[in-house]
Amino acid sequence: MTQDIVSSTIARHQGQEGPLLPILHELQHTLGYIPREALPQIAQALNLSRAEVHGVVSYYHHFRTEKPTAPVLQVCRAESCQAMGADRLWDHAQAHGGCQVEAVYCLGLCASSPAAMLGEEPLGRLTPEKLDEVLG
Ligand code: FES
Repeated sequence: MTQDIVSSTIARHQGQEGPLLPILHELQHTLGYIPREALPQIAQALNLSRAEVHGVVSYYHHFRTEKPTAPVLQVCRAESCQAMGADRLWDHAQAHGGCQVEAVYCLGLCASSPAAMLGEEPLGRLTPEKLDEVLG
């Protein structure tokens, strides 16, 4: 199943210019992570070295190679969100449990700081109370 998804994702993007990032994004969107076992297959299909593919995956904090154990909550810890209380939100999210909390540095939602993403859902002007509602 996962192997089929990896193969079809590669095939869908292989003819494009600069296919590596679209493949990585689609795999993470579809599977929730990029299986480590897929990296050699991607490298071979794109005529890249394994080191090049690994370098891209490890460079971007967005990409993960381990399957999340719970819904992923990305809390923005960059300047705008920090100024609007992201540190308090970060502490609250970690104490809440029930989700895998990750730090990110700007989600492009600065006008709605403090911001976070729960899976693919953007959350703006977030407070600890709103976060409790969202996480249940
Ligand atoms: S600084 Fe948090 S979304 Fe930009």
